Amino acid sequence: MEYKNLLVEINNGIAVLKINRPKALNALNSETLIEINDAGRALQKNKDVWVIVVTGEGDKAFIAGADIVEMKDLNAVEGMLFSQRGHDAFATLENMNKPVIAAVNGFALGGGFEVALACDIIYASDKAKIGFPEATLGIFPGFGGTQRAAKLVGLAKAKELIFTGKMIGAAEAYEMGLVNKVVPHEELMKEVMALAEKIKSNGPVAIGLAKECINKSLSLDMDSALMLEAKDFGLCFGTKDQKEGMTAFVEKRKATFKGE
Ligand code: CAA
Repeated sequence: MEYKNLLVEINNGIAVLKINRPKALNALNSETLIEINDAGRALQKNKDVWVIVVTGEGDKAFIAGADIVEMKDLNAVEGMLFSQRGHDAFATLENMNKPVIAAVNGFALGGGFEVALACDIIYASDKAKIGFPEATLGIFPGFGGTQRAAKLVGLAKAKELIFTGKMIGAAEAYEMGLVNKVVPHEELMKEVMALAEKIKSNGPVAIGLAKECINKSLSLDMDSALMLEAKDFGLCFGTKDQKEGMTAFVEKRKATFKGE
C-alpha cells in the first residue's frame, strides 16, 4: 500500500501503520485522515493481517494533533466536515474486528491522542507527552476526544484535561488510566510487538467478536449487551478455531489458529 502521509508495513500477520509527516510532527491534515481511513479499511479486509499497530514516524512525536495550518482559516461548515473526516477515520480503527494497538512514541496531543483513544490498547514511551491543547487554540477536541476520553477515565478527569489544555507525562497518564502501560522509550516497539505477537497467538475470530461485545457495551443496555454476547459467543462455536483450541487443550498441545 502506497500513501503520501502513511507508511504501512505488514510482516507475519502484524501491520504497522505509521503516520509519516515528521516535519510537522505527524500532524493530521485532511489528506492524512482520508489515508488512515483507506488504510484501515484495506487492513480490515486483508486476511493476512491479524493485529494492527499505529505509531508515528520519527523519534519525537506520535502525532502532535490535527493540522493547525489547515484548520486556521476554516469556516463553521468546513470545521464540522473536518471533524467528521476524523470521526470517519477513527471509527474505522475502532470498529474493525481486529485488535489495534497504539504505540505512543512521543507527543500525542489533541487529535493525536484521539487516534490513540480509538485504538484498543495504548502503550506509551516514558518520553510521551499527552494532552488536549485544543482550548489554548480556541477550539476543543473534535475527533472524538470529548466522548472517548470521558468514557476511558471518567467525566471529571476528561474535563480537567480538556479545560486546562495541560500536557501530562506518560507516568501521570498511566496513573489516570489513559494508557495501559509505560515503557522505556527505546523498548517501546519491542514491547508493542511482543504484545501483538501474544494477541496473535490466540483465536482471531474470537478476539474480533470480543472487541465488538466490549465496544458495543458502551451504547447498549445490559439486556441487549448480554444478548449480543450470547450471540457472538455462539458464533465462536461455528469456527474451526474453537474446535482447534479445545481439541488442542484436550490433547495437551498448543493450538494453531487459522482465523477460520
Ligand atoms: N499542526 C501543524 N503543524 C504542527 C503541529 C500541528 N498540530 N504541531 C507541530 N507542527 C509543526 C510546527 O509548526 C513546526 O513546523 P515548522 O518547522 O515548519 O515551524 C514543526 O511541526 C515542529 O514543531 P515545533 O517547532 O513547534 O516543535 P517543538 O518541539 O518546539 O514543540 C509541540 C512541539 C509542543 C508539540 C508544538 O509543536 C505544539 O504545541 N504543537 C501543537 C500541538 C497542538 O496544539 N495540538 C492540537 C491541535 S488541535 C486538534 O488536534 C483539534 C482536534 O481535536 C480535531
